[in-house]
Amino acid sequence: MKLISRDLGIDLGTSNVLIYAAGKGIVLREPSVVAVDKNTGKVLQVGAAARNMLGRTPGNVVAIHPLKDGVISDYEMTAKMLAAFLRKIVRYAVVKPRVIICVPSGITEVEERAVIQAAMEAGARRVYLIEEPLAAALGAQLDVSAPDGKLVVDIGGGTTDIGVLTMNGIARSSSIKVAGDAFDEAIIRFVRKRQGVVIGENTAEEIKTTIGCVYPRPEDLYMQVKGRDVKTGLAREFLIYSTDVMEALKRPARQITDAVLEVLEQTSPELVADISNNGITLTGGGSQIWGMDKLLQERTEMECSRADDADSCVAFGCGKSLNWMHRMQEGTINLARKKLLQD
Ligand SMILES: Nc1ncnc2c1ncn2[C@@H]1O[C@H](COP(=O)(O)OP(=O)(O)OP(=O)(O)O)[C@@H](O)[C@H]1O
Ligand SMILES: [Mg+2]
Repeated sequence: MKLISRDLGIDLGTSNVLIYAAGKGIVLREPSVVAVDKNTGKVLQVGAAARNMLGRTPGNVVAIHPLKDGVISDYEMTAKMLAAFLRKIVRYAVVKPRVIICVPSGITEVEERAVIQAAMEAGARRVYLIEEPLAAALGAQLDVSAPDGKLVVDIGGGTTDIGVLTMNGIARSSSIKVAGDAFDEAIIRFVRKRQGVVIGENTAEEIKTTIGCVYPRPEDLYMQVKGRDVKTGLAREFLIYSTDVMEALKRPARQITDAVLEVLEQTSPELVADISNNGITLTGGGSQIWGMDKLLQERTEMECSRADDADSCVAFGCGKSLNWMHRMQEGTINLARKKLLQD
């Protein structure tokens, strides 16, 4: 039986949407995909059902990723997708839910408004926003209320959000559009150039998660992959090794570590000293790429570890922040940020 849950924390991610219901925990985890009938424009399915539909349906069904680079790229579809997800978990609710949604720290006010409006359209009564690094830190069980500094690096699908947190606030932050999706794209480019074969996004992701790495693995793994030969247009099989993938991912991995170093450079020496004591915490699905912790540790010369349930930290953090909802200000963060969580 579905209970009525009025307050929800939503991780509206580029790759996945997670919803946390007050008192219950994570109640929904679905890919951010909408299946649409190209001819009529009608939404056929959302989430995992939409993804499963693809490939097994006629060509008039297309998959839409309504979020890109951490922000809404298709407003209408985002609202419809969110509405369908909310219907799944608050089917019989009389009272519309209040929601806290996380957004990348670099988001513009226009982009914030799009999130708020999409959530209202999807059936939310009130919408509050929280920045991804703060949500990630809360979800990773870091004590962000302490006066010392913590550094969180959340690598998602579309964005990497880096934040220095202290006393319930964000002292420094940065958000770059290089994360898990950029890894997949880099693999596709590499294979095309090296092998003359085109592979799909799903294949690239599979390569990344099974044998991929951004730091040398103890043993070089390999995988058999199938793609389309650029010249002949025919299917072709080939082997790809971990070392190849590491080479392919060198650039995006470096962009991420550079962004972290840049944030550290801009952070006060006291906070940097704290961070070097506390270590760096990695969260987000993209942080699960093999060796990310090792690479970052090597480059920053600071201890670096991945949080447990890295891909759920932001959702847990949104859930935790529901307790402070009464102290948060509705609407865009730019106004609310200064008041947020401050006694
Ligand atoms: N085991 C793994 N190894 C490497 N990458 C992984 C692994 N598991 C998931 N990923 C990647 O994690 C990314 C999705 O992470 P996550 O769900 O945190 O993103 P998101 O929150 O939807 O995106 P964003 O925060 O950028 O909006 C995808 O690029 C996916 O390929
Ligand atoms: Mg995310």
